[in-house]
Amino acid sequence: MTATKGLEGIVATTSSISSIIDGVLTYRGINIDELAEKASFEEVAYLLWFGKLPNATELAQLQQQLGEAAAVPGAVIDQLKLFPKDANSMAVLRSAVSALALYDAEANEMSKEANIRKAIRLQAQIPTVIAAYARIREGQEPVAPKADVSVAENFLYMLTGQTPERIAVEALDKALVLHADHELNASTFAARVTVATLSDIYSGVTSAIGALKGPLHGGANEAVMAMLEEVGTMENVEGYVARKLENKEKLMGFGHRVYKNGDPRAKHLQVMSKELGKITGNLNWYEMSVKIEELVTGQKGLKPNVDFYSASVYTSLGIPRDLFTPIFAISRASGWTAHILEQYDNNRLIRPRAEYTGPASAAYVPISQR
Ligand code: CMC
Repeated sequence: MTATKGLEGIVATTSSISSIIDGVLTYRGINIDELAEKASFEEVAYLLWFGKLPNATELAQLQQQLGEAAAVPGAVIDQLKLFPKDANSMAVLRSAVSALALYDAEANEMSKEANIRKAIRLQAQIPTVIAAYARIREGQEPVAPKADVSVAENFLYMLTGQTPERIAVEALDKALVLHADHELNASTFAARVTVATLSDIYSGVTSAIGALKGPLHGGANEAVMAMLEEVGTMENVEGYVARKLENKEKLMGFGHRVYKNGDPRAKHLQVMSKELGKITGNLNWYEMSVKIEELVTGQKGLKPNVDFYSASVYTSLGIPRDLFTPIFAISRASGWTAHILEQYDNNRLIRPRAEYTGPASAAYVPISQR
């Protein structure tokens, strides 16, 4: 038995949800470029869960279900109030999603219908939890969700208490479409491993949030913004990149395990970053990002991934840096739950092997002789 580090290139399951073939990403066979231009996040969530685009009635029904489920139990809001005000927002989300299971009477009900209902509830409630904690830590009361607006609009509304600008809703909606699913990424794999033991959907999503939190995965978008803030101005870009490359340090938001010729989602976020920069009258973050890309791609051949331009997009929307990865979770909740449903449909325990590298045969030494 020979191990493959990081399981690179290992095909661990079959899936009909999303594909990356020759650098092209599709959801259920539909190119992400087309979905980014034409589909709403709710349409994409339906597509991922049910395997087809919804008709108008089906979409309206899903929007209604999401709206009706968006309020979280008061007991979970009370818990958010007890958490430290300076907690990591992904750690808060991980704990809160785990807690949501305790107040869901169907949490351990394993029928397909119950699991779909729970997928919708989770999708609806994750944005509410994130927005509620963001307000609570600032000493503000959470804003109750609206029942009749999109996931993107509701999140921005709950965060600020104000009806968001149409352009902001459209931008966030597109970012949610772009992040919704991505084949067997680390967090989705974590979710599938968890539920393949026939554990419940909340456990699967809690595992996934833990995996997404890391800076090699979803945590990279926050790390990109930290880098942009550290660089600060255009004059510092060259020196910063040179230092990082010289010290063989990673530049966050670059590189990808699967895409070697560029992440197809990045260009959409780049366009959004520029447009939003123009609207806010601050193109600084966008222009610094472009310069960093030129240098890193030019000198190292590494291309930006989905997280790179997300950072300046979310900053232009006025979203605090530490909510970037939770926003990724809002979107990826659709993919996670679609994969969990698919795993249950054709389940087998996921239990790979390890190549043993320890001593071949060691004697037990009594404690008095150690
Ligand atoms: N900056 C500098 N060098 C890099 C980077 C980077 N961002 N990414 C890869 N490399 C180098 C790496 O040092 C290695 O060089 P060498 O062969 O000389 O040792 C080579 O490229 C191969 O890299 P790797 O780390 O073996 O590649 P991987 O497939 O294991 O890792 C990755 C993929 C995405 C974790 C990695 O590119 C990385 O750490 N990027 C920065 C973090 C990041 O942006 N993550 C977001 C990923 S995409 C969306 C998501 O999942 O959230």
